[in-house]
Amino acid sequence: MSERPLEPEPARLQEWIEAFARFAVDHLARLPLMPAQGLELADGLAVAERLSTPIGEAPLPGGIPAIIDRLERGAEAALLTAGPGYLAYVPGGGLPSAAIGDLVADLLNRYTGITQAAPAFVRLESDVLQWLAGAFGYGPQARGLLVSGGSMANLAAVVTARIDRLGEDADLRRAVVLASSQAHHSVAKAVRLAGLPPSAVRLVAVDERLRLCPDALAAELEAVRREGRRPFMLVSAAGTTNTGAIDPLPALADLCEREGLWHHVDGAYGGAFVLCEPGRARLAGIERADSIAFDPHKGMFLPYGTGCLLVRDGAALRRAHAGEAAYLQDLDTDDGQAPSPAEHGPELSRPFRGLRLWLPLMLHGAAPFREALAEKLALAERFHAGLLEQVAAGAPVEIVDAPQLSTVPFRLRREPGETLASANARSATWLRAINAAGRVFMSSTNLPSPDGPAFTLRACVLSFRTHAEQVEQALEDLELGRPGVSSSTAPR
Ligand SMILES: Cc1ncc(COP(=O)(O)O)c(C=O)c1O
Repeated sequence: MSERPLEPEPARLQEWIEAFARFAVDHLARLPLMPAQGLELADGLAVAERLSTPIGEAPLPGGIPAIIDRLERGAEAALLTAGPGYLAYVPGGGLPSAAIGDLVADLLNRYTGITQAAPAFVRLESDVLQWLAGAFGYGPQARGLLVSGGSMANLAAVVTARIDRLGEDADLRRAVVLASSQAHHSVAKAVRLAGLPPSAVRLVAVDERLRLCPDALAAELEAVRREGRRPFMLVSAAGTTNTGAIDPLPALADLCEREGLWHHVDGAYGGAFVLCEPGRARLAGIERADSIAFDPHKGMFLPYGTGCLLVRDGAALRRAHAGEAAYLQDLDTDDGQAPSPAEHGPELSRPFRGLRLWLPLMLHGAAPFREALAEKLALAERFHAGLLEQVAAGAPVEIVDAPQLSTVPFRLRREPGETLASANARSATWLRAINAAGRVFMSSTNLPSPDGPAFTLRACVLSFRTHAEQVEQALEDLELGRPGVSSSTAPR
């Protein structure tokens, strides 16, 4: 054993990196051959129990091969979120070039919380943020921050809006944040974490395409004001998680301006589509938002762990998050030229997240991102067209909506006289049958219907590894797994 086991010699470090890189590269090559669903939870828990390893004083007996064996089996005992057939929830990605960025960032381990500690690295990160801000139509006053995901970006947005619109000493019991009934649950969670009571969240009705309804919003605002409460923020969605619905951003921007509300757009799922031409057109009006959350670990295909908050008036973001401490006095943070990431969000120490975004942009350029995003929109259109063909051929399927982004919601059509519970159960059985075929993996949600929540399947195309082949497989497997018109022919 080396005298300083925590500091491997260069040759040893190289050997480790190569061994784990070989494992990861081999694993990625096998991804398309693995069942799209991955392991079911019960099987996964059994593997977890078997792999659980006591922490010893010495290295694991068996060394790197024993460690890799655990990692491989652990990766198999999971949803196959990195696979090409993954159409569930909101798919992430796992760009290898971003993973290399993480490895390098962690090996170099420079401190990027405060600009003065690593000005060039912070600059590189802020260059990416300014480029993104420009893509959303923001000007040079905008500032942004890379955080761990959309939930954190929404939280930082609520805190920024609260301080900007209500000041530091407001009576938060009266404060109100409005959002659509289809808003992601991280919005209500952010409001709570920002110190507001649960009653501060008011969810507003949506239209038939599940987009926030401006008239309902105006009525709710009036009601809130009549109660003597103080609305200060609207969170609208640029791509709801359920169906990819885009709230009417220009009309909502008008209303927020009129009413003095901070307008935050939760684009965690859909925001990145501004990078491609057809997506930008659908998201028109987003440039008027006061702040935008979007998730590079969704729409820019990064591995999990990167969300982004952009604020049109960067000074508001800084006012909400700046702090001072004597033990930081040697790192003069207030030169006004290059504000620190720590002044723009809740974290002081933080990983050098910029590199996992910057390196892929340097290695690939921006064009492949734009092309891949346009491809995802086209793939969702193709899935929708295929579903329409099946319906025209007699399939008892109800397509809930055409894709507003890259998600298609659908379910089995209710038979005359059938209860909602029975229809829901048949759709759930159908989903299990599709997923059991092992080529694609979808998830479900409940959507409002006249007599209650209707179980709805959703195909969300977002992984950079998903292409036409998987979409055609999905369409084929819908036919394979679909129960007939009569529930008596449903698979048991
Ligand atoms: C619209 C929307 N907002 C917020 C989030 C939360 O993002 P994260 O899981 O990165 O915290 C999601 C996640 O899917 C989302 O779809």
